[in-house]
Amino acid sequence: MFEKLFSAPDDKIIKLMHTFSADPRADKIDLGVGVYKNKNGSTPIMHSVKKAENLLWEEQSTKSYVGLAGDFEFHDVMRDLILKNCVGEDCVAAAATPGGTGAIRQALELIKNTDPSTTVWISSPTWPNHPSIIGYLGIKQKEYRYFDYKTGCVEFENMLEDLSSAKRGDVVLLHGCCHNPTGANLKLDQWARLTEILLDGGLIPFIDIAYQGFGDGLDEDAAGVRYLVMNIPEVIIASSCSKNFGIYRERTGILMLVSHNKGDKIKNQKMLTYLNRQNYSFPPDHGARLVTMILKDPELRTSWEVELKSIQVGMLQNRESLALELCKQIGSDRFGFLAEHRGMFSLLGATEMQVDEMRNKYGIYMVSDSRMNIAALNLKAIHKLTEAIIAVKV
Ligand code: LMR
Repeated sequence: MFEKLFSAPDDKIIKLMHTFSADPRADKIDLGVGVYKNKNGSTPIMHSVKKAENLLWEEQSTKSYVGLAGDFEFHDVMRDLILKNCVGEDCVAAAATPGGTGAIRQALELIKNTDPSTTVWISSPTWPNHPSIIGYLGIKQKEYRYFDYKTGCVEFENMLEDLSSAKRGDVVLLHGCCHNPTGANLKLDQWARLTEILLDGGLIPFIDIAYQGFGDGLDEDAAGVRYLVMNIPEVIIASSCSKNFGIYRERTGILMLVSHNKGDKIKNQKMLTYLNRQNYSFPPDHGARLVTMILKDPELRTSWEVELKSIQVGMLQNRESLALELCKQIGSDRFGFLAEHRGMFSLLGATEMQVDEMRNKYGIYMVSDSRMNIAALNLKAIHKLTEAIIAVKV
């Protein structure tokens, strides 16, 4: 049968990560994969994570199974982190998953199994793994306009126009904050107008929130999600702890089904548990346990929040420095949007040829759509990047 296997496509972000590693140039700059880097270019383990790991090593007495949906304490802390008290605990069913991607995959399987005629609407552009998984599962997908390449802003009226043609029961995949790849985000009044369109059209929001705390702050970044959850009867949420806890390889994520109909919780919980069993049985525990320990222990939590804040502020400084440097060098505010964007990424607006040229000539790696990892910049890289952007005439 192996001769019949189709040739699996590469993932452009992961492929770029390998190409970067293989590049022998000492002064190469990696603005590709979404991994935080400190000023020295490394991705350290957060202090709170290291401390929690030490404690766990001391205290944990068994590695036996936990539960098919993961540890309920993990559900509680994550529900509180993302939703605070905007809905009751009795409205939320949850399951731990292997990373945010695991949560997205489970949600899409649930959508497909429940109603195969559903169309999932995705932003144009979006994280490439969204259309990839949706296509792989054979689910129908359509794009809604999202990003205006000329202004670097959300094209909100066009987004609403596209979504108003969705049919009742369709699912709308939204980025909870820190839009990947563009960095352009909805403002709170836009979340409110979007909520009306979703309610009027009978559409179900599916929120992917993978960068909470990287934009404006933990609560600020969840404000749109909380608004939707308070106002829309059914919401799907996939969340990742990879970035804000820096535990990428531990594969820690969660899927939540929020229903205003309190009677739904038991059935929804059973479904999520069943889905986990079908795909991998028990979700990984290590990362979820560290997150639970950190969020429950006041000292660890403060340490985590302080470190996360400094990461967020560092990214804002990088944004401002890059926008300022470009403004100084080209004498216009054309790239001012870089300072307005939030989160780990910004879409520069370069062509694929310009991106190739920046990689080949300057050793600057960004994704082919010109997505840059802002968290990987430092002053030296900002100078070099500015030089390259001007030289290739973006
Ligand atoms: C990214 O967008 O670069 C990250 O989320 C890593 C990934 O899995 O693509």
